Order: sequence, then C-alpha cells, then structure tokens
Amino acid sequence: MNHKPKVALLVGGTSPEREISKLSGKAIYEAMLKLNYNVIVLDPAYGTKQPESIDLFFNKEDYTEISNRNYVEAINLNLFEGIDIVFLALHGKWGEDGTIQSLLELRGKRYTGSKVLASALAMDKDMSKIIFKHQNINTASWLAIDKNGKLNNELIEKIKARFGFPCVIKPNDQGSTVGLTICNNESEILSALNLAFDFSEKALIEEYIPGREITVAVLDNKTLPVLEIKPKHGIYDYECKYTSGMSEYEVPANIPNDTYNKIQQMALEAFNALGCTGYARVDFRLNNDMVPYCLEVNTLPGMTSTSLVPKMAKAVGISFDELIEKIIRLSLK
Ligand SMILES: Nc1ncnc2c1ncn2[C@@H]1O[C@H](COP(=O)(O)OP(=O)(O)O)[C@@H](O)[C@H]1O
Ligand SMILES: [Mg+2]
Repeated sequence: MNHKPKVALLVGGTSPEREISKLSGKAIYEAMLKLNYNVIVLDPAYGTKQPESIDLFFNKEDYTEISNRNYVEAINLNLFEGIDIVFLALHGKWGEDGTIQSLLELRGKRYTGSKVLASALAMDKDMSKIIFKHQNINTASWLAIDKNGKLNNELIEKIKARFGFPCVIKPNDQGSTVGLTICNNESEILSALNLAFDFSEKALIEEYIPGREITVAVLDNKTLPVLEIKPKHGIYDYECKYTSGMSEYEVPANIPNDTYNKIQQMALEAFNALGCTGYARVDFRLNNDMVPYCLEVNTLPGMTSTSLVPKMAKAVGISFDELIEKIIRLSLK
C-alpha cells in the first residue's frame, strides 16, 4: 500500500487501565499527526456518543457515561467505513483480551497487535502458564483458584506447604499490578485472595521469585534489547509503573551475555507459543542465580513516549514515531 492508510485509533475502554490507555492514546495520536496519518479517535466505551473535540478523549475526566454494552454500537458506527486499520491503544480487559478483537473481526476491520485467540490466551495468566510449561518456557510454579471455590483452612495449609512466604497472589486476568499482593504470612492470604477476586473470576498463587525485574519486546518476530526495571518498591507496582521517578530503567540491561540471549530467546518462544502477532512485551523475573522466569505476555503494552517498549525501540535507534509507523505497517502485511 503506497498511500497513507486511514486509521481509527481506539482509546479508553472500561478496564481499570482506562486512564493509562488515554495516555497511550494521546502519545500515539500525536505521533500519527506528525506522520501525516488521516486518523479518527474513538472510545468504544462511549458507544454512539463520541466526543467531537479530540481533547475530550484524553482528559482524565470522562466526557459521558461509559459501559461495556457501548462497544458493539461503537464498532458499528459508520465512521469505520473507509478505515484501513484500527490502532488499539486499549489495555486490559475488553481491550487486550480478544473481545474487541472479535468485534473487529466481525466488522471486517484489520487491527494492530495479536488476533483473538492469542490476545485471550495472553490475558489469561493461568492458560499462558499452562502453555509455557508445555513448551518448556520457565515460569514460577503456581496454583489457580476459582472464585466459587472454598476458601478454607485446608486451602491455606496447602498454600503454606507448597509456596511458603513470601508468595504472590494475583488476579488471573488483570494488568498494571492491580489486585496483586505479596503475602508475607498466613494471615494475609484470605484478604489477598479476596482482593484478587475483586478483579477476576480466578486468582493465582505463585512462587515468589526474588531478584530482578526484566522485560523485553518482540517486534516483527525479532526481540528488542532487554530492559531492566529498577523500581523503588520491592515489586513493579502500579505506582512504580506510572509515577515518574519511581523506577529507573537500564537498556540494554547489564546481564551476562548467555543469560541475556536466553531471555531474548524465551521472549520469542513465549510470543510464538501463545500465537502472538505484530508486537508484544514479555515480562520476566530474573533470580539471583540468573535463572529467568517468564511472568506474562502483554499483547497491548503501554505506549506513552516514556513506556517500556518505546524505550527498548529507542535503544536501537527507532524513534517513537517510527515505532508507531512500524506497528501499523506490520498489521497491514
Ligand atoms: N512470582 C513473582 N515473584 C516476584 N514478583 C512478582 C511475581 N509475580 C509478579 N511479581 C511482581 O508483580 C508485577 C506484576 O506482575 P505480572 O504477573 O507481570 O502482572 P501484571 O499483568 O499486573 O503486570 C511484576 O512485574 C513483579 O514486579
Ligand atoms: Mg506485567
């Protein structure tokens, strides 16, 4: 395609990561203007009531009521006629998990990132880990618990015996470290499980991996440089993720060569195992014996100009604008 494709940029959505999506969306929108794309912005959560002024999409305050039901109407809008590609700046549930991807499939529109199945698998940490294990991609040992299951003493004893402390309790399908607890003793287990169940039908209890916080992006079936995050808190929590100055970053990460290569290889394997396409970011913990553990794959990672994937791209000379252009071109292939 020689002409500039016509783009619909989807931002917002209804997940707890709505605000982050607005930030990603704004950065992507600005890049698209610089790249001379013909772009319209839509928030699926606003349905047929899309704001007329661009700024209203990115404001912290919502312009009108938001709901999941609105998605279907939004995707049906005539505005989509003539759109060549939908750029997804959504994060989390209903945006990154295959649901909006399904609507776009039905609408016959191409979109950035992974398709329906890979998006759904990557959002489901339990399913992802089952596949990682099957493919010999090292991941922390875990136990998945259903919201309807019994939270009794027997379960607490089982968790104690199997994982000890600290252990990690997290919702099965959330992002941004929302609803995640590092449990330091038995008395914290129940409240941690209940917190996880506020966000998900399933909770994961995971072996705690001490050590370093590592992430690596896959773009066009190749890995970008490995990045190490040095959060001010013990873990890379919501505050460290989104508050400037709360984390330091090193890219390329200072890791022995063989481990560095191993992490890049694992990232590609995880990406392929879930069937991802386009781009994604794969999160790891690296323990003190230099053993990497794959935590998860993010199929629509944060895309503000200071987000992790843009940082990795920059380390190999790809500017933020070029990255956006690459993602669009990849999705049109
Ligand atoms: N098993 C673990 N051991 C140590 N830290 C963990 C573990 N699981 C998660 N964390 C910490 O919590 C953060 C978020 O966990 P992650 O599984 O990537 O979920 P999210 O989708 O919320 O990013 C990680 O980046 C890491 O700092
Ligand atoms: Mg993560």
